[in-house]
Amino acid sequence: MNLSPLQKARYEYSPKLPGMLRNGIAEICVKEGADTQSVADQDKIKALFPNTYGKKEITFEKGQNTSVAKKQVVGVILSGGQAPGGHNVITGLYDALKATNPDNVLYGFKGGPDGLLKNDYVVFDDAFIDAYRNTGGFDIIGSGRTKLETKEQFAIVAENAKQNGLTAIVIIGGDDSNTNAATLAEYMAANNTGIQVIGCPKTIDGDLKNEDIEASFGFDTATKTYSELIGNIERDANSAKKYWHFIKVMGRSASHVALECALETQPNICLVGEEVKEKKMSLSSIANYIADSVEKRAANGDNFGVAIIPEGIVEFVPEFSVLIAEINELLAGSKTDAFNALPSWNDKYEFIKNGLTPASFAVFDLLPVGIQQQLFLERDPHGNVQVSLIESEKLFSALVKDELAKRKAAGTYNGKFSPLHHFFGYEGRCAFPSNFDADYCYSLGYNAFMLIQYGYTGYLSKVSNLSKPAEEWVAGGMPITKMMNMERRNGEDKPVIRKALVELDGKPFKYFEAHRDAWAVETAFTYPGAIQYYGPSEVCDLTTRTLALEQN
Ligand code: FBP
Repeated sequence: MNLSPLQKARYEYSPKLPGMLRNGIAEICVKEGADTQSVADQDKIKALFPNTYGKKEITFEKGQNTSVAKKQVVGVILSGGQAPGGHNVITGLYDALKATNPDNVLYGFKGGPDGLLKNDYVVFDDAFIDAYRNTGGFDIIGSGRTKLETKEQFAIVAENAKQNGLTAIVIIGGDDSNTNAATLAEYMAANNTGIQVIGCPKTIDGDLKNEDIEASFGFDTATKTYSELIGNIERDANSAKKYWHFIKVMGRSASHVALECALETQPNICLVGEEVKEKKMSLSSIANYIADSVEKRAANGDNFGVAIIPEGIVEFVPEFSVLIAEINELLAGSKTDAFNALPSWNDKYEFIKNGLTPASFAVFDLLPVGIQQQLFLERDPHGNVQVSLIESEKLFSALVKDELAKRKAAGTYNGKFSPLHHFFGYEGRCAFPSNFDADYCYSLGYNAFMLIQYGYTGYLSKVSNLSKPAEEWVAGGMPITKMMNMERRNGEDKPVIRKALVELDGKPFKYFEAHRDAWAVETAFTYPGAIQYYGPSEVCDLTTRTLALEQN
């Protein structure tokens, strides 16, 4: 492989560990805190996790290592979407494992949970690991979205683990994968397999966070990458002064990514799905809100601007979710075939008109034809509308255009509106991890091994105090069951880690709310520039505005 100069340089970077993990393995001791309880539904969660529920919070400290000497054979998987820093979780895990005992072994199971099911693995050695230090991507072993959740799957995983002599499994994933890690840990404990299971919090979406997990890894680098691009677009907009840019950013349902990018770049508009839901905003009220900014800026001679749209926005618009539910119903089962057999879009349109309630058809009819067709043509294997594929950046610019045309006719607006569209998602998921993510991920992996070595299972590797320099970070672990509650999923009550949406009374949103009216009219853009890997700490080691606001 031809290595870029940056990749070569990043191989030499030494990730920073929390102070208490810096003195060598022999000098890491464990301190147990209080017993824990799940965030809600304690009786139900306790009944479902009799062997792993209620365990103590733990932190590591400088002191004599009292763990039992034992050869460790650990298996690791990457699960779900890519997030910068995943490779460093594995390198941190490997380094702690080998530093503890050179005979310890690390297996990497390929392609996500499937690797554990198919017993498809590599055995890491120094040369293998060194080629991935401080690099982006998940290509070291690949990832996958298969869910590990049934007893049959667990039995296969246990059998493969036994065959390979595994003592522990580390699952690097988001809320669903770590929910499954907790269930797998319980299964392993209930069946006396002796195999421990530890999770590590990953996702660029930033929605795996709670009072224990301050941030999921990858959020820092991904939002910095998008913010760089948004800042560049802002500067282009401010130079050319002729385009309105509608920029959709990844992040699924939660708007953490959009909000962080807005805090970094101060665009004219940033929609927040959680607020749209709370205020029950309709499509036209959102379009009016954006059009107000366009109109006011045009009155100042500024026929340009930037609007950030979170990926999951449409799910939060009440009338739109009703429409989607009706469409799913309209095409349920064999009805899809009848719909597909209709020869032209006009025929399909008539079918839709007759099938939807008048209220939903009115919403449908508001949409640009391209979006109408997306709703019916791009569907998942169960026949459901794929909300994430809806080009909401185009949807909102089209609605704003219609609204501005009305205002022009009424004589209240006399500007020019030329929209351009962007979607930033995959651009940020495999970037070289920022120093923050390189350090955080390495620490999570190193720490995960210490949890294994001290015999814990069903824990999430926890590194906290993250807005401070790494020296002051606190390493430890939290039982995953502490983060769980019961939720209705696919018609059943299930124990799951609660997904974190943007809190409207949280400091990041409050800061945004206090400034957005000014940003909507003025040109208050901020240009964060590219991630810096070398240079002064205040430029290279800064974490997100979200964490800084949450923790100050
Ligand atoms: P995870 O939740 O698995 O971390 O994935 C995050 C994400 O990047 C979302 O932001 C996005 O909607 C989704 O993955 C895209 O999935 P895919 O990679 O399958 O296209």
